[in-house]
Amino acid sequence: MPAQPITTAGTPPERQTVLHSWCVQSDWDAPTIVGGAGARLHTADGRSILDMSSLAECSNLGHQHPRVVAAIRAQANELCFVTSAWGAAPRARLAAMLLERSGFTGGRVFFTLGGADANEHAVKFARAAAGKPHGWVITRERSYHGASYAAMALSGDARTAGQSDPELYRVLHVPPPYAYRCPFGTASAADCAAAAVRRIEAVIGERGAPEVAAVLMEPNAGTNGIVAPDAFWPALRAATRAAGVHLIADEVMSAFGRCGEWFAWQRHGAGAQPDLMTLAKGLTGAHLPLGAVVLSAAVARALEPQMLMTGLTYCGHPLSCAAGIAALESYAEEGLIERSRRLGAALLAQLQRLATRHAVIGDVRGGHGLFAVVELVRARASREPLAAWPAMHPALRALIERAREAGVSFAARGNLLLLAPPLVITERELADALTLLDRLLGELTTELAAERAS
Ligand SMILES: Cc1ncc(COP(=O)(O)O)c(C=O)c1O
Repeated sequence: MPAQPITTAGTPPERQTVLHSWCVQSDWDAPTIVGGAGARLHTADGRSILDMSSLAECSNLGHQHPRVVAAIRAQANELCFVTSAWGAAPRARLAAMLLERSGFTGGRVFFTLGGADANEHAVKFARAAAGKPHGWVITRERSYHGASYAAMALSGDARTAGQSDPELYRVLHVPPPYAYRCPFGTASAADCAAAAVRRIEAVIGERGAPEVAAVLMEPNAGTNGIVAPDAFWPALRAATRAAGVHLIADEVMSAFGRCGEWFAWQRHGAGAQPDLMTLAKGLTGAHLPLGAVVLSAAVARALEPQMLMTGLTYCGHPLSCAAGIAALESYAEEGLIERSRRLGAALLAQLQRLATRHAVIGDVRGGHGLFAVVELVRARASREPLAAWPAMHPALRALIERAREAGVSFAARGNLLLLAPPLVITERELADALTLLDRLLGELTTELAAERAS
């Protein structure tokens, strides 16, 4: 008998029973989503919402991608689960596909359930491969690597900073290459990148390279809104290679077309390949939970004779791996990586046009793929933030609300609008979302003027 769809009929409201992430519980009052197609989500009350953030920058393939849904169904009919004590065809196939796509020839893949545990395991593997079990790990202030305790320690995130002590986890934070507000006071993106890498070299020097196991950073996109200047990643790769310190790329958000490449570091060529890379989100297009650590041949070789003292019950879950295979096939066969690059360039150009119309836009960055950041300011010349980071100005909160009422869901953090729609969004949908944003930015400007006048 076919299973019936689950409805909320006769169920207490979700806002009373579920502990929801990243919010005050009493504030949560979201519509129930019952389906989706392409870049759109369908609500239980019959509305269609255009998703301009791919939910949590993860639904790169759009919602209910037919090929992925069919692959999950087919795998469920065959085999839902075996542990990694047994072989599973989808696991073996997906690992081979990832190694091939990333050029990590001769490497290995460790599967996790999401991004945080991928980052934790990447650190474990980097330390084990280097023979530095307590080696320091250098990460960025203003970064997000997950919400487990070690991932919070790795992160430089105002929301979780008080919950985990980086020193206890042997983590050191360095300032980010945030060119618009360069923490080193430089005047150009290239100089900011160079200064950020020099600081990392200095920290490695101060601790002593034999004491440092890895540098872990996002090569491009992140919800912190920082888009590293072009010169940053290649210089970081050169510096870590010279110091003999592993470089881990957190590609949880930036991979699978989000930044116009399969993996964001690939924009800088094969020489920019990290030693380890972490994946999640777009790996299945978020149809099922799955993360991965991809290890270079050298790291895999170093781990080969060691007893691997770690594991997760659901490592390489066959259903998730089947979804991952279908997702990778869809990116390739539908040309979605190239599409993201093309539409990302158009998105950036359109946002830059909006910046000429709205002085509240201080900076527009990104656009290598369908990921762009709009930073809002009180005054463009002074770059005075709309609100002190990480707070959000009520006028921006109102903009997000109004957009949702008009059928478009935008993501915002602090003073940042993050535009990261599914790679399958149509050009018409993208244009409509930007027309709406144009109007709402006008209203926001009027509100700010009224606030100043009062
Ligand atoms: C760059 C980055 N790393 C790690 C994570 C954590 O991933 P997860 O939420 O799957 O644990 C995220 C999530 O947003 C992320 O953006």
